[in-house]
Amino acid sequence: MKELDLNNKVAVITGGTAGIGLAIAGIFYEHNCDVAIIGRESKKGNDAVREILKQNIERNFSAHSQAVIADDSFCDVAGRNSGKGMLNPAMNMITGNETETGKFDSAKTDKIPSIKNRMTFIKCDVGLREDVKSACEKVLNDLKKVDILVLNAGMEFTEAITEVDPENWQRMLDVNVSGAFYFIRYLADSMIANKTGNIIILSSVAATTGAGGGIHYPVTKAALKGLMARINYELLPKGIRANIISPGMVDTPMLRRKYPDNDEVNAKLCQQVPMGRIGAPGDIANLALFLASDLSSYICGQDIIVDGGRLYYRRPPITPQKAQK
Ligand SMILES: NC(=O)c1ccc[n+]([C@@H]2O[C@H](COP(=O)([O-])OP(=O)(O)OC[C@H]3O[C@@H](n4cnc5c(N)ncnc54)[C@H](OP(=O)(O)O)[C@@H]3O)[C@@H](O)[C@H]2O)c1
Repeated sequence: MKELDLNNKVAVITGGTAGIGLAIAGIFYEHNCDVAIIGRESKKGNDAVREILKQNIERNFSAHSQAVIADDSFCDVAGRNSGKGMLNPAMNMITGNETETGKFDSAKTDKIPSIKNRMTFIKCDVGLREDVKSACEKVLNDLKKVDILVLNAGMEFTEAITEVDPENWQRMLDVNVSGAFYFIRYLADSMIANKTGNIIILSSVAATTGAGGGIHYPVTKAALKGLMARINYELLPKGIRANIISPGMVDTPMLRRKYPDNDEVNAKLCQQVPMGRIGAPGDIANLALFLASDLSSYICGQDIIVDGGRLYYRRPPITPQKAQK
């Protein structure tokens, strides 16, 4: 029977260091996937890896468990794959496993049930083609294959059409569209060779409504539909499928850069969502997990809106004027 499990699969998640991408990385890892997250900031990326490992330890082990991770890429919880075996101070604070030397203590770590799946961060600006090329080479070199590619990294500028800065326009195309394409360009050969690939693209309801950010945002998000269509058209016979998730309003750093997190603002935002609440990153991650799993293996080419009904939000009606005779 097919399961909601990603055992033996490798996922790459662009923009996996915050917001929706981070939630997707967490739920994939929880479901036994090897995960590589991509972002521009090393500290943010490494913190995200630690946070996911920490949550995993808390889920899997009792409070007295002694766990160690290596402060390095490609470690499992016991640091077995790293070759370095340096204790991570943050993790040891969480687990109470502190040693004076800070060295890997195999007597302790050998007692830890092995967690097979790996979690890593790769620094890359998806808007720079050479960065994407190197990141893909690193993924294939270290993880050997990619089963699931989540093209999530994205950005927005808020500018009126008449005020769009051409540099902002170009940057948004580079990040939101070219950034997604180049990951496919550099990973597709490997997916084709393995006869398997599952591509999940983060677009937005803005591609349909035109709302959100400036004009560059809906334009670049709509372009992803063409990207998905062509992947399916050309690569489905080679075992590669693609789907889109189009979120509405989701509570992430991207949203909070525009709207401060306070009761008054939140109440106003909630009024615009028929279901009465702002989406949580987990609302999107749940669908990503389903699409990533074999449960969805016959689904391709779908653009699934996850917005609490925001598309049906009725703006306050304009009072109709009495017809003049
Ligand atoms: N939140 C919403 O309401 C909403 C609604 C509809 C669609 N979406 C879409 O969902 C996706 C995720 O949104 P989010 O709200 O989670 O965004 P977010 O909170 O701003 O997080 C964006 C993530 O992408 C990374 N990122 C940004 N620019 C990058 C670049 N040039 N290269 C590499 N990584 C980059 C960020 O890490 P670094 O900054 O460290 O690089 C971060 O991990 C985006 O495509 C967005 O358009 C979001």
